[in-house]
Amino acid sequence: MVEQDFVFKKVQLVSGVSSYESPSNIALVKYWGKYGEQYPKNPSISFTLSNCKSVTKIKYRPKKDNEINNFLFLFDGFLMPSFNEKIKQFINRISIYIPAIKYHFFEIESYNTFPHSSGIASSASAMSSLALCFMEIEKKINLKISKSYFTKKASFLARLGSGSATRSIEGPVVCWGESEAFNDSSILYGTTFRNIAPIFNSYQDTILIIDKNEKKVSSTLGHHLMESNPYAENRFIQARKNMSKIKDVLIKGDLDNFIKIIELEALSLHAMMMTSSPSFILMHPNTLSVINEIYEFRKQTSIPICFTLDAGANIHLLYPVQFFEKTQNFINNKLLKYCFSKQYINDHVGIGSKIIEV
Ligand code: DP6
Repeated sequence: MVEQDFVFKKVQLVSGVSSYESPSNIALVKYWGKYGEQYPKNPSISFTLSNCKSVTKIKYRPKKDNEINNFLFLFDGFLMPSFNEKIKQFINRISIYIPAIKYHFFEIESYNTFPHSSGIASSASAMSSLALCFMEIEKKINLKISKSYFTKKASFLARLGSGSATRSIEGPVVCWGESEAFNDSSILYGTTFRNIAPIFNSYQDTILIIDKNEKKVSSTLGHHLMESNPYAENRFIQARKNMSKIKDVLIKGDLDNFIKIIELEALSLHAMMMTSSPSFILMHPNTLSVINEIYEFRKQTSIPICFTLDAGANIHLLYPVQFFEKTQNFINNKLLKYCFSKQYINDHVGIGSKIIEV
C-alpha cells in the first residue's frame, strides 16, 4: 500500500465518543534514526506489552465557527500545556488522511496505567491509543471500512505521532520498516508476526525503574543525531541483519541467540548515543551494576534471562514465564537496591490494543 491509499476524503459532520486502551512495546531490534515524515532508517521489531498502557477517550463534535483551537487535552484529569504542541502537530498531520478532522472539536482525556514520571516511554501507548480513537471517527463516516484496513491505518496514523507507536496496535510481535526477512513489512505501518515459538507468547518483561527523571535527550533529537553519526550506516546494516537473525530465533525459540541479539541491540543503541555529537550517556551507574548482576546470575543458574534498554537508564528484564519465581527472587535479593525507590513493574507480552465501550 502507498500513502495515497490512506486518504479518506469524505467529510461529514458527526459527534460521539470513542475510547481505546493501547499498550507500550519493547523493541528487540531498535528503531534509531528517521527521515521525512516519520520514516525509519532501519526496520525494527518489538514485543507488544500488556500492563503498561494508555487509556484515551475522545468526545468529538462539529467545530463552532468562533472556535480557534480544535482540541482540549486532559492528562490524568489535568490540563497539560507541555503536551499540546505534540498533539496539535499530530492532529495536523493526520488531517491529511482524515480531512473531516478539520471540521471537528475534540475533548481528549488520557491516562497511563504506569507512573507518569517512571521514565517509561509513554509515546508509543499514548499515540497509538489516540490514533485508534481518531480511526473510530473515520469508521463512523465510512461504514464499510474493513477490520484489516482499520488496523493498518491506525498503525499508519500512530506512526505520525511517534515512530514506536506504529508497533503498539497489535501483538504479540510487530515489525515496522522494510526488511527482506519479513515479506509484508512496510515503512508506513506495523505488521504482526505470528509465526513465533509458543515460549514467546508468554514472555515476561520486568521493568526495573533505575532513574525516574525526564529523558536527557528527546527521541526526536536522538534520531536526528544519527544523521551525522559516523557509525550510522553500519548501524543500519547491523539492524537489518539482526532482523533476519531474530526472525529465525523467534520461529525456533532459540533462546541463546535471542539473548545475544537482544543485548547487542540494546548496547548498540546506547553506543550510537555515546558516539553522536553532542554525545549522551543515558545509562546510570546502577544500569551497569544491574547488567553485571544479570551476567553473573545467568552464568550461575543458566536461566535464560537477558536485558534490553530504551533510550534511558531503565532496564527491561526479558525471560520465559517458567522462571518467574526465580527471577522475582533474584530481583528482590540482588537488584532492588539499584532501583529508584525499589520500584519495578512486572509486564508480559500481550496482544495489543482494545476498544473500550462507552
Ligand atoms: C529507543 O518512537 O520515541 O525506543 O518517532 O521521535 O517519537 P519518535 O521516537 P520514538 O523512538 C523510540 C526509540 C526506541 C527504540 C524503539 O522503540 O524501537
